[in-house]
Amino acid sequence: MAEPMIQTRDLHRSYRIGRTSIEVLRGIDLSIGRGERVFLCGPSGAGKTTLLYTLAGLEHPERGGVFIDGVDLYAMGKRRQAAFRNQTIGYVFQNYHLLPELTALENVIVPGSIGGRDTTEDALAALERVGLAGRAEHLPAELSGGEQQRVAIARAIVNRPKVLFADEPTGNLDSATSGSVMQILLDLAADHGVTLVVVTHDATLATRGDHTLVIQDGAIHSGPLPAAPGDVGAHTAAPAP
Ligand SMILES: Nc1ncnc2c1ncn2[C@@H]1O[C@H](COP(=O)(O)OP(=O)(O)OP(=O)(O)O)[C@@H](O)[C@H]1O
Ligand SMILES: [Mg+2]
Repeated sequence: MAEPMIQTRDLHRSYRIGRTSIEVLRGIDLSIGRGERVFLCGPSGAGKTTLLYTLAGLEHPERGGVFIDGVDLYAMGKRRQAAFRNQTIGYVFQNYHLLPELTALENVIVPGSIGGRDTTEDALAALERVGLAGRAEHLPAELSGGEQQRVAIARAIVNRPKVLFADEPTGNLDSATSGSVMQILLDLAADHGVTLVVVTHDATLATRGDHTLVIQDGAIHSGPLPAAPGDVGAHTAAPAP
């Protein structure tokens, strides 16, 4: 495998509601190589979003560590971690999370402006990359679902991250649009050596990556999932050795 870009050690995360505790991540160990394109599958509620949040520095694990490019994500202070995330990690959220009062272009400018730079040119280039140069002045409400998703991708790549996470980026799209949005992500990864982790329920799309990881019962499985409607079995799997 290529040199590791994302590694986890014994990741644990549970949620407590009243007296009930749900153990969502039960000791996840995985290793994803630099430039690899990995699909993450598993049943609804299995913990895909929780795992992605934890890998991206958005959800503190109760136990264990996450290493991005050799850096221990949860061992640094909040400010340093925020700066590291801003520079190194791109994230496409399950429900886009665009700011409704900002135009497409302004949404894409935001991550760059956090570093105090004028990134209008970079933002326009990112919109062009996802085929939306003609929609720069539209508000999210004036865009289709697929267009909003592509704005979210442009925003995630504007700082040229080393790692890109995308949580069901094609969940609400028709199959033709899904295919083209997924291709944009795969091409970006291939062209710039970005390490890509994408959650998907679509078995056909998942075969386009280098590996498929399946999460179930709080662990990463290497074998195929038991058949469940709408869920995806393993294509190949690469849990940590
Ligand atoms: N903030 C929270 N508080 C309590 N429980 C939570 C919280 N977030 C997630 N959970 C629970 O953790 C489990 C995993 O949720 P998660 O969102 O990671 O699943 P998922 O695999 O992404 O599902 P889906 O495919 O439906 O998006 C679920 O049972 C969910 O109810
Ligand atoms: Mg989810």
